[in-house]
Parts: sequence; structure tokens; C-alpha cells
Amino acid sequence: MYPPFNPHGFVKAETESHHWHSGSAFRTQYFNALSMCFPELERRMIQSVRATLAAVGDQPQVRDLREPARNFIAQEASHSQIHSRLNAHRVNPNWPVLVNWVPKGHIAQRSWLSNLARTCGIEHLTTLLAVYVFRQPTLFKHVPPSIRDIWLWHAAEEIEHQCLTLNLYRAAGGGYLRRIAYFFLIVVTANTTILAQTLTNLAHDGQLLKPRTWRDACVLFWGRQGLAWFFARHLPTYLRRDFNPKDHHREACATALRWLRDYRGRGLDGQSTHEETSAHSTDPGLV
Ligand SMILES: [Fe+2]
Ligand SMILES: [Fe+2]
Repeated sequence: MYPPFNPHGFVKAETESHHWHSGSAFRTQYFNALSMCFPELERRMIQSVRATLAAVGDQPQVRDLREPARNFIAQEASHSQIHSRLNAHRVNPNWPVLVNWVPKGHIAQRSWLSNLARTCGIEHLTTLLAVYVFRQPTLFKHVPPSIRDIWLWHAAEEIEHQCLTLNLYRAAGGGYLRRIAYFFLIVVTANTTILAQTLTNLAHDGQLLKPRTWRDACVLFWGRQGLAWFFARHLPTYLRRDFNPKDHHREACATALRWLRDYRGRGLDGQSTHEETSAHSTDPGLV
């Protein structure tokens, strides 16, 4: 358990509803489910990038990517730390975290390229979610600013490093078929895990069978600007052989990077979370 931690002021006020996302049980438990998956997911992505760097050695085509890869690792480690702390304050510690039931297993050296292909697939999902966040400014409108900033910061950094894993995969000799096979696998497993975690959270929260819960779910996923439509439209771009994340969603990406510059300018993060991570990490696998 992390010690009390409040650099962003996200400790819940006594009077505040525990449905921190717009007072909606579904939205709260869906975003809680995402947040509960991030620490373990990001730990695995860091492992896979590290395994790749170790496997390719000092090959010239990867040399230029070493520095961006180190930045990627630092950013994902920060996300993992902050979400662990956010979860400690926002999620009942007795609720099960389903992603932790998946055998931890070390990233084997011989399967490093497949693991990197899996990481590329996850990065496409997180990038799309991040783009959605910046295209829908109303999504976090009714969320306490301290929590909203964490989600926007994470989303903006996902956009900032969106090309790294795919560039690394291609430079390391990864091919199209492997990338696509692992993409399908990750789309199924990630969505199943998040859905199961959301339902588990709602059941523990006593909100699973309330009509409002499912009305909110329909609006979030199948409303006019719903998440489901957005993902259905943009997921398949990943199937292009020459797919490059930079070619898509330019406007939302520019907005995200501008927001990130401002945020760092306010001295609230980027730098400070990386320092926090190095200074307080309890998991040597993270930094
Ligand atoms: Fe992340
Ligand atoms: Fe990422």
C-alpha cells in the first residue's frame, strides 16, 4: 500500500461522492477499471521494451531509438506509479484486480519480438483512447480538476510517445503478420479484461443492476460521439502495412501536446512525476 500521497490533491474529500466521474457509477467504475489495469500493463510494456533493447544490442538501425525508448520507459513508469496511487485512494482495496491474476511470467528473451508486437497493439489502443479524450473536451468536464489532470496528463504522454514501440518493432526486424496477429489477440484480451473488471467493480459497488448504470453505459459507448463508434472507425487503421500513428488525428495530437507543454510549464508534472518515480519506486522493475 502506498503512503498518503497528494501532490495532485486527489485525496477524496469526506463530502465528495465516491462516484468521482460525473456522479455516474458506470463512468466511475469503467475508468477505475482502466486505472486498475494500467500499473501491471505498463510494467509489462516496460519489460518488453527493455528485452528488445537487450536483444538487439548495438545494431545501428536501433541506435537512434535508444534515447526515445528510455523516455518511453520513464513515462510508462510514471503512469504506473501515479495510477497505483490514484487506485489506492479511489478504489476499495478489497476489490479484486483481475489483470493481476494473469501469470506474471518474465518476458523471455526468445519471445521478445512477439512481446513487442503485443506492446505495439496496446499502444495503439491507449493512443486511440488518448485521442478520444482530447477530441471530447466534455468527457472529463464534471470530474474534479485534480483527477482530470491526471487522466489528461497520461493521455497527452501516450500521444507524445505514440510512435516509439512501432518504430522499435520495425527497426528490430518485426514483420506485418506477427504485428497483426498480436493486435487481434490484444484487442480481444484487453477489452474482455476491462469489461470484466468494470462489471466486477459495479457488482461490488452495488450498482450493477441499476437502470441508470446501463443508461450511462449506452451514452458513453453508443451515444452520438460514443467510444464504440470511435474505436470501430479508427482501430482498423492499424491494419495498414505502412501504418504510422503520426499520420492520423493531427489536430487532437497537436491539442494534446500543447496541453502537455502548458501542464509542464505549470510545474505540475512530466518532470516531477519522473523524479517522484525514481525517488519513491518500490518496484525495481519500473525504473
Ligand atoms: Fe501509459
Ligand atoms: Fe504508452
